[in-house]
Amino acid sequence: SALFPTISSPDTQTAIQAAAHELVHNLRPVAFPTETVYGLGALALDVSATSRIFSTKGRPADNPLIVHVSSFAMLHRLLPPQFVLPDTYTALMKHFWPGALTLLFPCDSNTIPSIVTAGQTTVAIRMPSHPVARALIAVSDAPLAAPSANSSGKPSPTRAEHVQRDLEGKISVILDGGACGVGLESTVVDGLQPDGAIRVLRPGGVTVEDIERVLELEMASPPIVLVHKRDYRDDALEAAPTTPGMKYRHYSPAVPVHLLCTLSVPPSSTQPVNIASYLDSLKASSPRPLKIGVLAPTDSRFATYPLPSDGIEWLRFPLGPSAEPAVAAHGLFDGLLTLERQGADMILIEQIGEEREGLAFMNRVRKAAGESIWLKMD
Ligand code: TXA
Ligand code: MG
Repeated sequence: SALFPTISSPDTQTAIQAAAHELVHNLRPVAFPTETVYGLGALALDVSATSRIFSTKGRPADNPLIVHVSSFAMLHRLLPPQFVLPDTYTALMKHFWPGALTLLFPCDSNTIPSIVTAGQTTVAIRMPSHPVARALIAVSDAPLAAPSANSSGKPSPTRAEHVQRDLEGKISVILDGGACGVGLESTVVDGLQPDGAIRVLRPGGVTVEDIERVLELEMASPPIVLVHKRDYRDDALEAAPTTPGMKYRHYSPAVPVHLLCTLSVPPSSTQPVNIASYLDSLKASSPRPLKIGVLAPTDSRFATYPLPSDGIEWLRFPLGPSAEPAVAAHGLFDGLLTLERQGADMILIEQIGEEREGLAFMNRVRKAAGESIWLKMD
């Protein structure tokens, strides 16, 4: 069936067998590619295996994990016997599974250890589409709990080299599947609330526009789709670390990240600082030339802005044309990690529109920039 992965190379098969052995017999986590980002997987139903995910990443115990399945049969074995799939989930799964969509389900506490859910009453589950991820789960014959394969707080890895640099010595198997197609994490959706609404807890690889389109296509009376923090707030959710970046610093390289405002929509409530004067003050206080990394669309206003070349070496990582936010999403974490590796003292990221993949892009960028100042061009 189309839901079973096809892995033809014998080398790949051998590597997957070795990774499955590490998971199932040694109960140790392995890194593997998914279509979103690289994951650090361990047997989801084994407490000692999953606890090693937290220790390897330095992940706070109150941040729950996503459980990855390779088939609908595996999904149903995880769910409480009396649970009936909402029609919204049936529609979303039809279009987006396997793929970059994570759904919340009621947690069957007889099956799923509370370490996976951080003691919550729901469990997040996703069926990845990457053939290596699917094969690894199928060969292990067990659902895998897997966060992104980075040290807690760092940008998520989108290439095997990123994982190696970050977790070298801490894990013994990294399956190399090349660059991840999407480049940022899955969309996390809660459709379990009594009002039937679809709540996007974390924007990601599946866009809100596509979720709305599919629900309108499949349902006679489609539910409303609400994006957390854009369309509604949830004090309990914001106090609990159930959605990335609510409580902990996220996606941050070792160097400061500043956001460059180029659109009329203000990126935050704080007043942006003029970039030219900011760069002047940086140069004045730096004994050596600065290296500044830039993540910006190739056709943006910033791309043609006259940047000072004395005292500053510019390292550019292009994010593709601004009409294609999927390309920007694909390049964001790769760009942050690449510029950091190239020795940037600071990274500037240009604001993009929050349509389609731009919503997830800006969500990650805000978290990477944290409380740092925002820059503007005039
Ligand atoms: O694309 C992805 O989702 C990647 C790949 C490896 O699948 N995984 C990933 O995992 O991004 P992680 O741990 O970096 O982010 C998972 C997030 C958690 O931070 C948490 O906020 C949310 O999913 N989550 C997990 N279980 C939840 C739950 N029961 N309720 C609300 N949010 C939950
Ligand atoms: Mg993560």
